[in-house]
Amino acid sequence: MIGTGYVGLVSGTCFADIGNQVICVDKDSNKIEKLNSGISPIYEPGLDELIKKNYISKRLTFTTDIQMAIKLSDIIFICVGTPTKKGSLNVDLSFVYKCTKEILKYTKKKKILVTKSTVPIGTGDEIEKILKKKKRLFTVISNPEFLREGEAIRDFRFPDRIVIGSNENKVFSVMKKLYLPLMNKGAKFFMTSRRGAELIKYASNAFLATKITFINEIANLCEKSNIDVKDVAIGMGLDERIGSRFLRAGPAYGGSCFPKDTKAITVTGDIFKTNLSIIKSVIKSNEKRKIFLTNRVKKILSNKIKNKRIAFLGVTFKPNTDDMRESSTLFMVPFLVKYGAKITYYDPSGEKEEFSKYKSVLFCNNIREACQNTDLVIIHTDWEEFKAIDFKKMFKNKKIKIFDMRNLYSPSSMKKQGILYYSIGR
Ligand code: UDX
Repeated sequence: MIGTGYVGLVSGTCFADIGNQVICVDKDSNKIEKLNSGISPIYEPGLDELIKKNYISKRLTFTTDIQMAIKLSDIIFICVGTPTKKGSLNVDLSFVYKCTKEILKYTKKKKILVTKSTVPIGTGDEIEKILKKKKRLFTVISNPEFLREGEAIRDFRFPDRIVIGSNENKVFSVMKKLYLPLMNKGAKFFMTSRRGAELIKYASNAFLATKITFINEIANLCEKSNIDVKDVAIGMGLDERIGSRFLRAGPAYGGSCFPKDTKAITVTGDIFKTNLSIIKSVIKSNEKRKIFLTNRVKKILSNKIKNKRIAFLGVTFKPNTDDMRESSTLFMVPFLVKYGAKITYYDPSGEKEEFSKYKSVLFCNNIREACQNTDLVIIHTDWEEFKAIDFKKMFKNKKIKIFDMRNLYSPSSMKKQGILYYSIGR
């Protein structure tokens, strides 16, 4: 596994756990040192234990020595980052191509080279061009990853599908053998062309982002028409053609994938002279949502933000991760600070560097501390520990305003407790 970021480390560890001999390579020696002393550089429930277990049993090793790793491996997974290029919507593939060149340098025997990183249509073709000097030694395939942060181990063990894209049929049986333990538990194995697999990843993420944005817009309509968006989502989701998942209205979607991948697929569309207008409007709608919800915060505080105390419960883009990438709090918090708000926040994954530059933003060690003397509590991330807070007891009957951006509580029970409760699409 080349790259011990999210995808490489989780997949590598899980591949080892189903019985393979796995070498995880990274050029960052600090990361490798940490991993060799049993510390995971990323926060993912269950990962530390799994790393330790497989490290001790010697199925999983960590190294900076890419030459040795390539020499010893039959299948090489490229799991390096494909971030958005600065000042562009497109992805930066330089890490992918750089490691391809190293693979070329050190390969002497036949290898299967797999892209697990999310890469646009035609990346496999470009990789083949780089490898052309030793063309016969390589089969280049695409095997996109569908892991969700916070649930990555479960997602690896019980995937809905395994997508393998190859232009050479004989490689499918090798990949089938690798994934057999997961197929035995019900995962579907889908074989397609390499370009097809590359697009499946982007199209899936863009579709899920569209589903969320769709329900977020329906939530706006529900707010105006006195309907509960949760009921609408349930009613829609009961239709198996629609499905109930990814229909939870909330803040703008964030994370390391949806924002990046939706932008990148529109660039691919433009390259192929195809206007992906739905995805383009999803991107716009999601950006607007950040402003829309911040304006709602202003409204809840009667447009007087200066010196108002606002407590954020959860600042990460989703629960069970410490990841702040593209979290809508990165827009909301600085905006409210600019207008004079004093912010306290508590997140179970700890203090965030992103907010350390603001004097009026303070990290607290627990819910109670964050909510003390506050004018408004904003529930931003749906961590488990925010789902059953006894607000009445906590605030001792003091009139309190809560803006629940994840619809964790029932409006009627909040009303009964005398809490001024605002939520999404209800
Ligand atoms: C996503 C894809 O789900 C995964 O398959 C892919 O490999 C990587 O990108 P991830 O970014 O980890 O995974 O998180 P996900 O659970 O998909 O949530 C993404 C964003 O959508 C979060 O901001 C989350 O809060 C939001 N979301 C999700 C909603 O607002 N409503 C929903 O119903 C689901």
